[in-house]
Formats: sequence, structure tokens, C-alpha cells
Amino acid sequence: MLVAGCDVGSLTAKAVILSDGKILSQAVRRANSRPEESAKEIMDLALADAGLAFSDLAYVIGTGYGRRQISFVNEVVSEIVCHGKAAQWLNPSVRMVIDVGGQDAKAILVDENGSVVRYVYNDKCASGTGRFLEIMAEALEVPLGELGEQATISQNPVSISNQCTVFAETEVVSLLNNGKAIPDIASGLMRAMAHRIAALAKSIGLEPEIAMSGGVAKNQGMFSALEEVLGLKIMRLEGDPQINGALGAALLAEEAMRKTVS
Ligand SMILES: Nc1ncnc2c1ncn2[C@@H]1O[C@H](COP(=O)(O)OP(=O)(O)OP(=O)(O)O)[C@@H](O)[C@H]1O
Ligand SMILES: [Mg+2]
Repeated sequence: MLVAGCDVGSLTAKAVILSDGKILSQAVRRANSRPEESAKEIMDLALADAGLAFSDLAYVIGTGYGRRQISFVNEVVSEIVCHGKAAQWLNPSVRMVIDVGGQDAKAILVDENGSVVRYVYNDKCASGTGRFLEIMAEALEVPLGELGEQATISQNPVSISNQCTVFAETEVVSLLNNGKAIPDIASGLMRAMAHRIAALAKSIGLEPEIAMSGGVAKNQGMFSALEEVLGLKIMRLEGDPQINGALGAALLAEEAMRKTVS
């Protein structure tokens, strides 16, 4: 049985195709301002990679910020449910998922079936999101993929006093002008952001095992800073954490099909 999940987030579109519980193909790409178009492009990419046509898919679930604009899906499900499902499927001992994407951060508590028990999210402010890190990487003139590594070699992290992204960017530029080292600024930024995400997660009660998903989970500096601030180990899930929303949607598509068969 072939099913798929399609996650159109605020910054990236993701698709996963499952064949009887196994990932057949996956794709991630920057989204444009038209969710419908981004969804179609990413789905076509995942289908081409698997050598399939859309008509081969038995059921498709859409999720993410742009889910209501995806016309080709059979059903839409919230990203919170999808991230919870995928994390618990990847490791059944996961009880809390921290998803940090481009535009928001979420903390989700799940039970042993991957169903959501409680959740909280912050989409009011960019300062706890991936976009914050993108803006800071630009200000530091460091490729985004290297920002986390830079942070891990810091000897003397600076303290960032501004929470607001716009003011923090100005602060970063003046720290650079004052001769502060890039690793120390990067580390200060990660710590500041880790404190905001940790406060969000703590507001619903920390529940080990904790896993991280979303594109920001690829940022090693952020991952370590969050572990340090929480005082807990964060579980590394197998595969690309950025596709977990789409993976959860595909897993739910598979469940939906199983229900119709039984
Ligand atoms: N290779 C990488 N290294 C470090 N960070 C990365 C990398 N790839 C992506 N990111 C981070 O991931 C973020 C995007 O995450 P993701 O794709 O989960 O967002 P999204 O699902 O579109 O957003 P949202 O869930 O908030 O709507 C980027 O802003 C960036 O900070
Ligand atoms: Mg997302």
C-alpha cells in the first residue's frame, strides 16, 4: 500500500511516500508564497524519486501552515498531531517532541500510541524560531548550516540582551564591530533562543524521553544549547528531523487506509 504525507510549512515544503510502513522517498524544498504550488512541486519531486505517479497513492494527508490550500489531499491534519505521531513511531519511548520550524516553536506531549496529550506553541514572535537563526546567520555572514558548528567551538559566549529579532540583529552587528568572535556571538544567540524554547516546553511539563524535530533540529549548536538549558539529553531520532511532519502525515494516511480495509 502506497500513501503519502505533504507538509507545507511557512518556510519549506516536505513530502514523504510510505510503502507498507517503509519510507520509499522523501523531499524537502524551500516553499514559495503559494502553498498549493509548493505542495504540488514537492509531491512531484517525491513521486519522481520513487518512480511513481500520483494515481499510485491510495491516500494522502496534508499538514503544516499551508495545509488548507493543498487541493490534492484526501484529508488535512494539524502539524502538532503529525510531529507527535512521527517522533513516537521513530522511537516509541518518546513522550515529548519539541518542533522548531521556520515560523513557530511547539512542544508536544504524546502517549505510548503517539496521540497528543498536551501541547503549546509560540507563533507570536520570530525570536524562538528558525527564521531568527537565518537572520542572524546573514548578519554574521556565516552560512546557516555552519552557524551551529561555530557555536559549538565558542570559548566565551556573549550575552545577547535583546529578545526582539530586529534589535538582536543590530546588537549582533555592533558586537561584530566591537571585535567579538563569531563563535561567541553564535553561541550567545543559541543560548538565548534555547532559553525561550525551554520555557515554552517547561510550561506544559518536561516529559523524558524528549526528541527534537523540524529544520532547527539539524542545527547542532541549537540542539546542544537546548540540552544544556534543559539539563536533559535530547534523543536523536533516525533520519532527517525536518521531514517529520510529512512523515507523521503519511503514517496517519496509512492508519486511515488500514481502518477502511478492516
Ligand atoms: N541544514 C540546516 N542546518 C541548520 N539549520 C537548518 C538547516 N536546514 C534548515 N534549518 C533550519 O530549519 C528552519 C526551517 O525549518 P522547517 O523546515 O521545519 O520549517 P517549516 O516547517 O517550514 O516552518 P513552520 O513549522 O514554523 O511552519 C530554517 O529556518 C533553519 O533555521
Ligand atoms: Mg513545520
